[in-house]
Amino acid sequence: MNHAGKVIEGLMRAELDRYTAANPVSRRLADRAAEAFPGGVPLHWMRDWATPFPLFMAEAKGAELVDADGHRYTDFCLGDTGSMFGHSPEPVVRAVTDQIARGVTAMLPTEDGIAAAEALASRFGLPFWQVTTTATDANRFVLRWARAITGRSRILVFNGCYHGTVDDTFVRLVDGRPVHRPGLLGQVIDLTDHTRVVEFNDVAALEAALAPGDVACVLTEPALTNIGMVLPDEGFHAALRHLTRRHGTLLVIDETHSISTGPGGWTRAHGLEPDFLTLGKPIAGGIPCGVYGFTAAVESRMRHVQAGVPHGHSGMGTTLSANALAMRTLRVMLEEVMTDAAYAGMVALARHLARGLEAAIARHGLAWHVTQIGARVEFHFTPAPYRNGGEAAAAMRPELEQLVNLFLINRGVLIAPFHNMMLTSPATTEEQIARFLHAFDACAAALAGHA
Ligand SMILES: Cc1ncc(COP(=O)(O)O)c(C=O)c1O
Repeated sequence: MNHAGKVIEGLMRAELDRYTAANPVSRRLADRAAEAFPGGVPLHWMRDWATPFPLFMAEAKGAELVDADGHRYTDFCLGDTGSMFGHSPEPVVRAVTDQIARGVTAMLPTEDGIAAAEALASRFGLPFWQVTTTATDANRFVLRWARAITGRSRILVFNGCYHGTVDDTFVRLVDGRPVHRPGLLGQVIDLTDHTRVVEFNDVAALEAALAPGDVACVLTEPALTNIGMVLPDEGFHAALRHLTRRHGTLLVIDETHSISTGPGGWTRAHGLEPDFLTLGKPIAGGIPCGVYGFTAAVESRMRHVQAGVPHGHSGMGTTLSANALAMRTLRVMLEEVMTDAAYAGMVALARHLARGLEAAIARHGLAWHVTQIGARVEFHFTPAPYRNGGEAAAAMRPELEQLVNLFLINRGVLIAPFHNMMLTSPATTEEQIARFLHAFDACAAALAGHA
């Protein structure tokens, strides 16, 4: 190990000790949880933090979280986007409190659902909507619809994508060849038979992959946000739309993370024209809910294809989807929380955060860079932005990511345990940003010359 590696290892040891000493209650809970949950947590992602044992949450409100030992944290992870508009916004608390006493789920529609669909239509410019329980399901059902209405079996995704646990998308490029994503468990079908994968921003590869005319849809985020942040080149989206139209391929834009851009996501901010748009995570204030919207042309093709098959289970929909509670909270989020004014504040704060990070990085001579999509900010351990998922994956520094994550937790700040992701919410304050930048500066100072 070189000198820099030894420095990082030494810092990590000190942070692990500091965390262990500071969190005896979390430690006791972790020991107890290990008896109940394989791996010690009810969802394995909860182990992805840099902590030696999970930090147990006691409560959270706005942009603040309190752990089981009573420490207060400024929360920039915000449930990895699930609580992007702050923990338990007041309008959601009121709506849940009221609705929970008036029926949660009945397999019947409610008026709140109509209001929510109308709000989605005016926000995203797509007339028709369906509701699911998660963003994963929204993507899964859209792939099924796209195949059904085009009669084509293949889909195309970009290298480094993540769209939830949709098996079809668990394909990566390794040395230019499509393979299953490492770590994928229990999949017995060769996903590369039906999924093409090319690098983001590679228009020539995209054109070659669409040219055979057998791709039902391209599914992509407007910018990749799950492998660091990869922004589209100037003109990439225009080329993507042009090529998909030319080859009869539908375009699905997944706004689940890029809803950080503004009230209508990246789609409205940049005038994209998707056939389908999918979204989930924060849209019902943390109550499970996903949605997908589509054009009138798609709706007409759906009706046509449905008329040609016998009545039966379509393979889409789950029992709790679109329940009365989710529809109420979705409506309230769209009407009262995800407002233009809220976005203006969040995005301005994210800009301060990004500028503050850049200043600290420069002050300590680190060759890192910062990216921002509206209220979403990341710092990366390379001097220049990535152009595609392959580049981003090659630049990952897990040991450094873990150290920074734990260093910040030990100083009262939570950022996402993946690729240094931070979100500002309508509840985030300038003081919280200043507190974060203070902790980040200390971390950058410790790493100066070694990272
Ligand atoms: C872009 C994108 N789409 C969809 C999903 C799936 O969301 P969920 O896990 O809530 O189903 C994720 C999750 O991280 C995501 O990043």
